[in-house]
Amino acid sequence: MTSPSTPAPSTSVFAPGLFDGQVALITGGGSGIGRGVADLMAALGAHVVLASRKLERVEAAAEEIRAAGGKATGIAVDVRESSRVKEMIAQVKDTHGRIDLLVNNAAGNFYAPSATLSENAWKSVIEIDLYGTFFCMQAVYPVMKEQGGGSIVNISMTLHYRGWPLMAHATAAKAGIDALTKTLSLEWAKDGVRINAVAPGPIPTEGVRKAFTPPPSADGVPDVFAVEKAMESYAKKMIPLARWGSPADIANMVAYLASPAASWVTGAIMVVDGGEWLAKPPAPR
Ligand code: COA
Ligand code: NAP
Repeated sequence: MTSPSTPAPSTSVFAPGLFDGQVALITGGGSGIGRGVADLMAALGAHVVLASRKLERVEAAAEEIRAAGGKATGIAVDVRESSRVKEMIAQVKDTHGRIDLLVNNAAGNFYAPSATLSENAWKSVIEIDLYGTFFCMQAVYPVMKEQGGGSIVNISMTLHYRGWPLMAHATAAKAGIDALTKTLSLEWAKDGVRINAVAPGPIPTEGVRKAFTPPPSADGVPDVFAVEKAMESYAKKMIPLARWGSPADIANMVAYLASPAASWVTGAIMVVDGGEWLAKPPAPR
């Protein structure tokens, strides 16, 4: 989505070829924030492997990255399936010989009242976000340990810092991801594996539009612009830096965390949100 209030963040601060020879595995890399991370890592020389359920989506994104001069491949995975996650990690290791960066970005989310949330709805989000992140971290650890180190970046959120109504499932999962980030960073530091998280503020991706677009109105037509309109007005009023975020904002932080400039950074949760959560008023009742 373009808007005068969304200037493209600069990527020129990163040295060309910064990640030459490296391999970056990005779950959910075919869309939204994950795609932004993939574009930047590929532009800086990494071979990016994009992994999600829809093979056609990650293959199409990989093709676009290759057309732009980068190195990219797509791979199918449902991060809820630990055995498939292990196979995926083995496949990437066999093909490329190493995995330098894992970005746990795949997630599911929707607004729903907790009182009536079905068991399967709760389970779906917890399993994609929290279990999926753990399965990928656990599977990549021996590869990173064997090669002498690596970097893991988990994509979190800020809504659990104070709580956010209608999002018990996702806020619980992301709080768990923050805990994993800190705990495993301590367990695996001795092996040179650095683990950090990025907590994005609001970024109007395709996934957010789908998750938060209201159901069809009385005339049967969904207002597909409702989320954009709401976010634009929210950004202007509620975000101190007065714009919504873009996938490139998050990609810049991931690239920093994956780079040698962050070699003494582990267990950190980096908020990238234009100041939103600090300025947020109490949650609605
Ligand atoms: N409100 C309440 N329950 C919902 C819901 C909503 N808006 N959307 C889905 N659910 C429920 C379903 O009804 C189902 O529960 P049930 O079996 O008791 O009926 C359960 O969640 C699983 O839904 P399903 O569509 O079968 O799961 P899935 O595994 O195919 O998809 C989701 C997972 C639900 C998280 C789906 O939204 C998704 O794939 N999201 C990925 C993209 C995304 O969310 N991006 C935003 C990132 S911020
Ligand atoms: P998105 O485009 O919907 O990205 C979600 C990605 O996850 C999709 O590519 C999807 O691909 C993949 N995915 C979903 N379920 C999966 C599963 N079971 N296995 C493997 N992959 C799966 O949304 P986004 O906004 O970019 O979100 C990316 C991350 O940022 C998420 O972790 C989200 O919680 C976080 N975040 C976003 C915002 C925001 O405002 N956008 C704010 C805070 C945090 P498939 O459908 O092909 O599987």
